[in-house]
This record gives sequence, structure tokens and C-alpha cells, in this order.
Amino acid sequence: MDSELVLFIPAAHAARLYPFLEDAAKGRAEILRDKPVPCLPLAALRCLFITMHGSAEHVRTPLAYPFVRTDGFNFEPPQRAPHELSGPDWLVLGGNGEDLGRLVAQALTARIEDGGRPLLRVAPYASLRGPLPQEPQPTDTPFTFRKSSKNFNQPIWAKNVERLLELPEERWHEVGISNTADLVGVFDEPLARLGPKEPRLILDLGCGLGQIARTLAERYPQAKVVGLDASAEAIAVASQAFGLPNLRFCAVDFSRPLDFPKGGVDLIVSTNALPYAQDQLGSARELFGLLSPQGLLLNHCRAEESQMFWDFPKSLVLPSNTQIFLSDWFAAARESGRNTEVLSVPLGMSATFYIPGQAKVFADPLNAYADAHRHDGPGPYAPWPTHVLLAHSAQARPANQAALPLSGNHMERLTRVLNSVAEAPREIQEAAIVAWICNARMFDVLPEALDYFEAVLPGSMPVLRPVLGASLKAED
Ligand SMILES: C[S@@+](CC[C@H](N)C(=O)[O-])C[C@H]1O[C@@H](n2cnc3c(N)ncnc32)[C@H](O)[C@@H]1O
Repeated sequence: MDSELVLFIPAAHAARLYPFLEDAAKGRAEILRDKPVPCLPLAALRCLFITMHGSAEHVRTPLAYPFVRTDGFNFEPPQRAPHELSGPDWLVLGGNGEDLGRLVAQALTARIEDGGRPLLRVAPYASLRGPLPQEPQPTDTPFTFRKSSKNFNQPIWAKNVERLLELPEERWHEVGISNTADLVGVFDEPLARLGPKEPRLILDLGCGLGQIARTLAERYPQAKVVGLDASAEAIAVASQAFGLPNLRFCAVDFSRPLDFPKGGVDLIVSTNALPYAQDQLGSARELFGLLSPQGLLLNHCRAEESQMFWDFPKSLVLPSNTQIFLSDWFAAARESGRNTEVLSVPLGMSATFYIPGQAKVFADPLNAYADAHRHDGPGPYAPWPTHVLLAHSAQARPANQAALPLSGNHMERLTRVLNSVAEAPREIQEAAIVAWICNARMFDVLPEALDYFEAVLPGSMPVLRPVLGASLKAED
């Protein structure tokens, strides 16, 4: 059992961080202080090699404190936060000594619980040299990232159900529920081009309060429309609000096999819900199995690319639970004899995903952009808007896959996304870059963060530096 924990800390912060590390080690581990290394080669670190469950994606990474939120990932097995796992080295960029000390104490305790007698080695470095190799190395700790099956919307539905049941639809916004009825417009263009002429059965997966299902039921009166959602509360509100003869709502978990005739569904739509499917490939296969030969599946949601762009630097390590694995949907569609078109449809950004206050500086320009373009219809794919629209059908134009950053290598994808940033409107570029560095500023590690990006993602500097421009100079 490897119970050594090695922390590489910036030499400039060593004196400040060392007392916290001594406290963390007290009674838990022997502490050794290495000689400073002038230039730390990142390739020499022991890393986590993370594969994404159900997807070919992988990323190799050290635990980088303070960027990486080490608590919020879903690993299997063991059910432990990554910082408690033995194996990977820690790359400390600076940050709050108290928090670092707490995480180190937890990591040492976990090693003791595993029967080890931990040793804490602290190695100061003056600068970083990269990049990381992205294929597995013999010293890596392998892990699988599994999407959470937790329904993050359910608490909102449960909390507001009483009030929603009392209010007419036009007043739902009073409980902070956005009106998604007009989102159905996103589907208009591919529906007109690829939609079955007279659909008999239409499903809306993860229909929430059912506004989109309702609109489709009005538009296709001859079709049977079923809105499905895992939330009994959301389904109760939808069922009470929308009583059309050809519309019904069911509380169903779409991660389980669905009780519809195979090949009997002509149209499946979904808005911001399919990322919740824990087994992306399995769910995609199941849904394509339900579609009729001329059937169409329209899925509007976040994808890895959008998340990589907006959720940097967390996205260096992992995708999130609120995005689909694009490659799985491509693969399953292909298996079922369908093409996939990937279109960009901006939808704005919820500041709640980000650090309040700090998020505003980039969420505001992005939301303004999304508002201005929301009704333009789906445009050609660019990885920087927040949302994608996938249209899967035998009649769809085969996507220009070469233009997509589809690759098994998460870091390579991120680099390609980064390169595409240059094509984004200026205000969006600026907003994104502020997003990228707002974590760094919050932890007070901007110079170290830039060294890190430069080492890990050499392509980031030509994008970051011109946009940061004046503010970077001020930091120097
Ligand atoms: C972001 S909301 C979107 C709701 C709706 N499509 C809209 O655009 O207004 C996501 C919905 O997916 C539902 N959901 C999450 N996991 C699910 C699952 N496994 N099966 C069915 N529905 C699920 C949630 O309850 C929630 O209503």
C-alpha cells in the first residue's frame, strides 16, 4: 500500500503553507521537506488516469489544488473523494493554507484507515514544465468517472409544487420557473426539414412542467404526445395544467427501459434533460431502438465542448453531470443507421453553476448574447455557445465530424475548443476568459495559474494573453 503523499508546492508560497502542512501531519504522518526543484516536469507526476464511464473519453491529471474541487466528483470504486485516494501526487498552486491543511489531514487519515503509515513529502518547485502526457503511465491511479444519477431539479420541483399547483401557467415565473414554452422554437427548423410528416407518437423526455409537450400536442393534434419526467411533483403540475385529449404525462425514469413499442415512436424531443442519463451510451441505444425508421430525435442541451469552454479550469479534469457525452450519441446513432447533425443554439447561462458574484461578469455578456441569438434558429456548430442541438435521423445531413472536437482524449478536445475560441465574438471571448481565471483570482493564484495553463495547455496562452492584456500587466 503506497501511503506516501507528495505535495509539490510553489517555492514562493512554501514558508506560508508549511505551518499548515505541519499541523495536518501532526500525529498522522512523518513530514519530510525536499530540496526545492527549479523546474518541475509535470510528466514526472503520478496522476489520476480518469476514464469516463460509458464513453471513450479519458484524461490524465495530477490533483491540482486549489482549482480542482476534489469533493464533487463521482468516482467508483471506492466511494471516496479523490484527494483521499492514495497514489496521485498533488500539485499545489498556492491558495488558502487552512483549506489545504484540512484536505491533507483528510488524505492522511484515509491512508491510516487503509492500514498505511503515511509519509508526507513536501517538495517546493520554482516553475512548472509541461505538458502532461495524456496516455496512461505505469504509476497512474486508474479511475472511472460515472455521471451522477442525482436529479438536481427535483428539489426545486418538490419545494414549489404546492404553489405551482395553485398558479396558472402564466404566473409560474413568480416561483422562479423560467418559461420554457418558447424554447420549442429551437426545434422548428430541424422539425420542418427532418420531422416525420404525420407523427403518431411523440415523447418529451424530462418534460418538467410540460410546456414543450403541450405545444407539440397542439401542433400535432393527430399525434399522441407523452411527457415523461422522473419527478412526480413536476408531472402532477403538468397533468393539472394541460388537459389536452392527445396529451398525457407519466412519472418515469428515462434511465430505465421505457415501455413503448420498439420502432413505434416517430419523434423524441428533450430539452436540458438527457445529460441526466447516467449511462449515456445505454440510454442513447435504448432511445434509438424506440424510434421508427423515419423517426427523429432532437436533443437540446449542454455538451462537453460548451462545458469545457465555460467551466474552465474545472473542465480540465472532468465533464460535469449537466452535459452529454457527444461521442456516445454519435456512436449509438450510427449503430442504428442514423446520422447526427450538431447545431449550435445558445441558451444563456445560469450563474448558479458558478461562484456567485464572480459569475456575473461573464454570465451577463453571455446571457445578453444568448438573448440576442436565441431565436436565430440553430446555426452551424461552434463549440463555444452554451448549448448544442443534436438532430438524429436517417435523413439528417451526416455531420462534418472532422470539424468536431470528438476525440477520446479529453485534453486534446479542450485544446481544440480553446483554439476555436478565437472565432467567438470578442465580448464572449472576454467573458469566457474571465470565467477561466475567476477561480484563480478567488484563490489568489493568478500568476501560478497562468504558469499551470501554459505548461498543461500550451495553446491557452495565445488566447488568454491578448484578451487579458492590460489586467495581466497590472498583475505582473
Ligand atoms: C432542466 S429540467 C428541464 C425540463 C424541461 N425539459 C424544460 O425544458 O423545461 C430537467 C428535467 O429532467 C428531469 N429528469 C432528471 N433525471 C431524469 C430521469 N432519470 N428520468 C426522467 N426525467 C429526469 C428532471 O426532473 C427535470 O424536470
